Formats: sequence, structure tokens, C-alpha cells
Amino acid sequence: MFIVHTVSELRQLLQLAHRQKKTIGLVPTMGALHAGHLSLVQACKTQCALTVTSIFVNPTQFNNPEDLRNYPRTLKDDSILLQTHGVDILFAPGEKEIYPEPDTRSFDFGALERVMEGKFRPGHFNGVAQVVSRLFTIVQPDYAFFGEKDFQQLAIIRALVTQLDEQPVIVGCPVVRENDGLAMSSRNRLLSETQRKQAPLIAATLMQAKEKVPALPVEEMKKWVAATINAHSELEVEYIEIADEKNLQPIKQWDNAIHARLFAAVYARPVRLIDNIRLS
Ligand code: PAF
Repeated sequence: MFIVHTVSELRQLLQLAHRQKKTIGLVPTMGALHAGHLSLVQACKTQCALTVTSIFVNPTQFNNPEDLRNYPRTLKDDSILLQTHGVDILFAPGEKEIYPEPDTRSFDFGALERVMEGKFRPGHFNGVAQVVSRLFTIVQPDYAFFGEKDFQQLAIIRALVTQLDEQPVIVGCPVVRENDGLAMSSRNRLLSETQRKQAPLIAATLMQAKEKVPALPVEEMKKWVAATINAHSELEVEYIEIADEKNLQPIKQWDNAIHARLFAAVYARPVRLIDNIRLS
């Protein structure tokens, strides 16, 4: 595996692959890798001749400076994991490589960004769009892989590709869970012992809610999920939403809700966890 830190080194490595028309796959990450990321690498390796993984903790997508400061950085362990999983190139740039000048671009994703993560983390998706579009320009991948845990991010990136007329095919990969159901996240390693014990109750509650469709009306279900999660001392719901998975707009009733998904954002302070499951 090649490990490169600059855009020019990366371009040199990719030049030949582009010339030989090799299918290039990109797995963008912020590091602190877990089995969820490795499932993206796996998907990439089965579809592409060359797998590039990027590790860059992107400051512009953090709306909370404390979250940025605390974000786990484990480049050494990450590179060993990627090497053993057959990644061809690890691109781990510094901030100046991605943003030689401050990125002042402002994206508009309309209704997609006015709900859930977009609403509760102002500016977050603008930062995601900035870094992902930069990575697309640098790597010129044919395919790019993202996890469905960040379901709204995936929708935003699909919209970004359409808006900018970018080339990669966006591939969404299912949420990967710990044995106890907790959605894998780099932030899980920041949980205290008690928080880690309670965190699987988020997924468990979402799964139980699924069994209550359509008996429990939508609004009742959101309240029930929030109350059930909040009953645990370390967990504090930020939002529970039930939305159409195509346009992410809230659903008010089960009638005609063909693609309903249940979304949760929950604090185990200061850590913020998100999860989602398909309901129908
Ligand atoms: O999902 C993530 O880890 C990040 O938001 C991404 C897509 C790598 C952009 O920084």
C-alpha cells in the first residue's frame, strides 16, 4: 500500500491508473477506522481495480470546536488496518493540501438540508460538500463509497454529484453494527463504560419501534422512541424523525409511506450518536 500526504504525490500515482483506464474507487473517511469503514473498502475492492482511501478530519464540517478537538486520530493503526485489507493507496493529507485557500463555497441543497442533521448541525453539510467535492476533483474516482449510517449525508452527496456534474457513481453501503446492535462509529470509542453499556439501547429501541408499524401512529411513535431512549440516565435524544428515504421529508402518517425510515440523534454527552433503520 502506498501512503501519500500530498496531492501531487497522489496525482503521480493515479496518473498511470487513469491512463490505463483502471476503475478507481474512493472511500473517503475521517479515520479512527472500524468494521463499518472496512465494509466500504470491501465493497470498493469488489467493484474497482484500484482502491483509494482518504483519511482527513475535515474542520469545515464540524459545527462544534470541542467535537473537532476530541475527534479520534489514529493514523498509525488505521494504516495497518487498511494495508491488511488490501487498500492500494492511503491518502492522508494535511489541511493545506485540501484547502490551500479557505473554501468559501456555499452549497444549496434545499429541503434536503433543512431537516435532521442539517437543521441541528448548521453548516455541517456545506463542509461535507466542500471536502467531498475537493476529494472528487483530486482523485477523479469512478466510484465513491459511503455508509448508510450517515443516511442524510449520502443523500446530500448524491445531490452534490448531480449539481456539480461530477463523475463518480455513489454507492451506499448498509450500517454495520456491533454484536449488541450499536451502529459502528468512530465516536463510539469516546464513550465512557456506562455510556457504552447504554448506547445499544438506541438501536434496540429503533428495532422495537419497527414492530409497531402501523399500529402506532407516526407522531406517537416518535414520542415513544424519544421517551424510551431518554429513560436511560446517559442518553439524551436530540431528535427522532420519521422521513421518506428518497427526499428525507418528514412523514405524518403511514398511509402512502412506502419508503419510511426512522432516524435518531442522541447525546451520550459530550458524544453525539446517530442511527437509522428502514421501517417499510
Ligand atoms: O462520513 C465521514 O466520515 C465524513 O463526513 C466524510 C464523508 C469522510 C467527509 O469528511
